[in-house]
Amino acid sequence: MGEGQTPLVGSRQLAHLHFKLEQTNPSGSYKDRFIAAELSRVLLQGQRVCVATSSGNTGSSLAAYCARYDVRCAILVNADAPAGKLLQMQAHGAKVIRIAQFAASAAVTERVFAQLQEFTARGTASLVVSAFRYCPGGMQGVKAIAREIVQQFPGVRHVFVPVGGGGLFAAVSDEMQAIQPQTLVHAVQPEGCPTLWNAWRNGLDRIAPVESTTRISGLSVPFDIDAGLALRMLRQGGGQAFAVSDGEVFDAQRHLLRREGIYAEPAGAAALAGYRQACRNGAVREGEAAVCLVTGHGFKDPASIASAAEETPSYHSDGGDLLAVLEEVTR
Ligand SMILES: Cc1ncc(COP(=O)(O)O)c(C=O)c1O
Repeated sequence: MGEGQTPLVGSRQLAHLHFKLEQTNPSGSYKDRFIAAELSRVLLQGQRVCVATSSGNTGSSLAAYCARYDVRCAILVNADAPAGKLLQMQAHGAKVIRIAQFAASAAVTERVFAQLQEFTARGTASLVVSAFRYCPGGMQGVKAIAREIVQQFPGVRHVFVPVGGGGLFAAVSDEMQAIQPQTLVHAVQPEGCPTLWNAWRNGLDRIAPVESTTRISGLSVPFDIDAGLALRMLRQGGGQAFAVSDGEVFDAQRHLLRREGIYAEPAGAAALAGYRQACRNGAVREGEAAVCLVTGHGFKDPASIASAAEETPSYHSDGGDLLAVLEEVTR
């Protein structure tokens, strides 16, 4: 449907920074790269039913591609998934199953995955999860992000990637190491769900589960799906991990909205929050070129957009006093 080849645009405010606009993919997130590849594989196997887990964007993407290619799909999401993502799935005709505490509690999430594997082992449906652990074939489609960045901006020194389960990071880092190893790929995680960051920071080899407290949809994955793989990629590629507060992510989202004209969901702004921290602590030095991935669209998470919009007053007029109102608002 035209996924991939997304624009790379320079920041208007921050010198040497570029944004890779993955929210311009057909369903509004980078997940279309995964779903396009994964669904091609599923269809080639003659399968016409998919069962997926999703924080929202994989489900939105799968629902769109399933509608187009006449595949039935059921999508398991957290009961709190943002409205934009839920509506997208249902509007495309996907069956949505909302599960309390899914992707927030490690115990609930593990129980759900165990039942899903039992169900899909019967062979009547394909399991779709945007992670190398479950769908390594589809994740190959995500690697193109690294190739495009190198084509669009060969001189890039740093790439910042938001991390939930870790699959996106693993894909971009792996491909970057293969094609341009001097470019460092960094991982950005919310402080409230620091699976990868904890292990990286403490020199551990295993990912310990956490109870997630982050409100950033898409980045709340409290146990190891691809975080162990992402950790190995991070160490091998020489990038760093950054833990950012939800407040820093919402600030970064505000920056994109107000200063750059980029309409992103919070997870799509997390890389920028990490970049800002890296500039403060010297991981990115003056004059070094960087790219932040903007992974998801503002339409996905209307509540976060509404709180940014509330800071801008709107005005009322009966039409008669318009000149006075115009004078006031343009002052
Ligand atoms: C917008 C957005 N950005 C980043 C991610 C993180 O990807 P991963 O779970 O592969 O780390 C997700 C995952 O759902 C997402 O929806």
